[in-house]
Amino acid sequence: MNNIFDRVREQFPALASGIVFLDGPGGTQVPQAVMDAVSTYYREANSNEHGLFSTSRRSDAIIAKGREAMADFIHARSPNEIVFGTNMTTLTLHLSRALGRDLGADDEVVVTRLDHDANIAPWLHLQEQGVVIRWLEFDAADCTLKLEDLEKTITKRTRLLAVGGASNAFGTVNDLPRILAAARAANVLTFVDAVHYAPHRPIDVQLLNCDFLACSPYKFYGPHSGVLYGRREVLEQLDPFKVRPAADSAPDRFETGTKSHEAIAGVAAAIDFLAALGQELGTGCESYPAGRRRLLKQALAAISDHESSLFARLLAGLKEIPGVRIYGITDPRRLRERTPTACFTLSGKTPAEVASRLGDEGIHVWDGDYYAWEAMRHLGLGDRGGAVRAGLSLYNSAGEVELFLDALRRLAQ
Ligand SMILES: Cc1ncc(COP(=O)(O)O)c(C=O)c1O
Repeated sequence: MNNIFDRVREQFPALASGIVFLDGPGGTQVPQAVMDAVSTYYREANSNEHGLFSTSRRSDAIIAKGREAMADFIHARSPNEIVFGTNMTTLTLHLSRALGRDLGADDEVVVTRLDHDANIAPWLHLQEQGVVIRWLEFDAADCTLKLEDLEKTITKRTRLLAVGGASNAFGTVNDLPRILAAARAANVLTFVDAVHYAPHRPIDVQLLNCDFLACSPYKFYGPHSGVLYGRREVLEQLDPFKVRPAADSAPDRFETGTKSHEAIAGVAAAIDFLAALGQELGTGCESYPAGRRRLLKQALAAISDHESSLFARLLAGLKEIPGVRIYGITDPRRLRERTPTACFTLSGKTPAEVASRLGDEGIHVWDGDYYAWEAMRHLGLGDRGGAVRAGLSLYNSAGEVELFLDALRRLAQ
C-alpha cells in the first residue's frame, strides 16, 4: 500500500521542487496527466461549444466526458445532474439567487457556524427578501456541530438546510446521513458543501439523498473550477438567472456564459488519475469506464486510510510541541471523524509569522481564517490572525510530516 503512495508522488511534477505542500485544503498540486489533458485540449479541441466543425465537436465531447466522470465521482444518476462553473462560491451564489425567487418572509434557511463562508453568505443574502436564517452552532471544545440542537433548529418554516461535508478549518467530518435525514423528514431541501470532503472521502449523492452538492476539482488534483450537483427534478424545476439565447435545459441553463473547457478536460483527467489508483489497489479487473465508480470508491477509501495514518503521526507530534494549541478533534481514536487537516496556534508567534517562517523553509501552510469566517470569530481567533492550517493530501509522505514537525519544534524554542 505504502509503495503505491510513494510511486504516486512521481506523477506530480511540482513535488520535484522538494517543497512540502501542506496547503492542500487551499488547493492541491496536479498530476502530469491533468497538465497533459489541459494542453491537449488547447492543441486539439480549442473552440466554443456546439459548432459544426471538428474542434467544436471535440469540445462538446470533452465536456460530455467531464460530466460523465464527475457523475461517477459523486455517483449522480445522470451526467445531466452535473453543472460546471468557475468555482463553488460562484455556483452557490447563483443557486441561492435561483432558489431565492420562491422564498420570502415566511421562510427559513438553516446554516451552520462551522462552514466556509461560501456556504453561509450566499444564504444570508436571502435575508434581503425577508428570509429568516437559523444557525446550527458548534462545540468549541472539539469543533463538532451541536447535533442535539438539529431537530429544534429545523422548523415548519424551514425550506433549505445548507451544511458542509467537512470543515476546511478544523477537519471535522459532519454526520451527513444524520443531518440530511432530519432535513428530509421535515421535507426540507438540502445543500451540501463537499469542497473539503471530496479529496478525503468517497461521495455518493444517491446514498446521501441530498438535493444539491458542490465541490471544487482544484481541491482533488484537478484544475481551478467548480461543480454543482443538482437532483434532476429540482434542477429542472428551478428558474436560474440566464441570458435568453442560452439553452433552457438542465444542466446547461445553470452554466452562465462560456465554460472553462480546458479545466473540464483536466477534471476528467483528475478523476481518471484517481480511478487508476483504484485500479492499482484493487483486483485490476474492472472494465473502464463502466467500473470507474467502483475504482473511485476504492481509491478514496485507500487515500483516507493512508492520510489518516500519516495524520496520526502529525497530530501526536503537534501535541508534544510546547505552546501548540490544536483546534478540532484531537483524540487519536476519533480520526475517522476528521480529515487530515490540522488547525493550531503557537504561543508567542502570530499565525502569519509561523506560516512565513515555515514558508522560508519550503513548507507551505496556510494562516488566517481560510474563509471559515464565522467559526474563527466564534473561537475568538478572528481578530488575532486566525490560526495555522496544515493539511495532508494523498501525495504527502511520512518524511514530510517529520520535516514539518522538526521545523515547528525549532520555531517553538
Ligand atoms: C469547505 C469549502 N467550501 C467552499 C470553498 C470555496 O470553494 P471555491 O474556491 O471553489 O469557491 C472552499 C475553498 O477553500 C472550501 O474549503
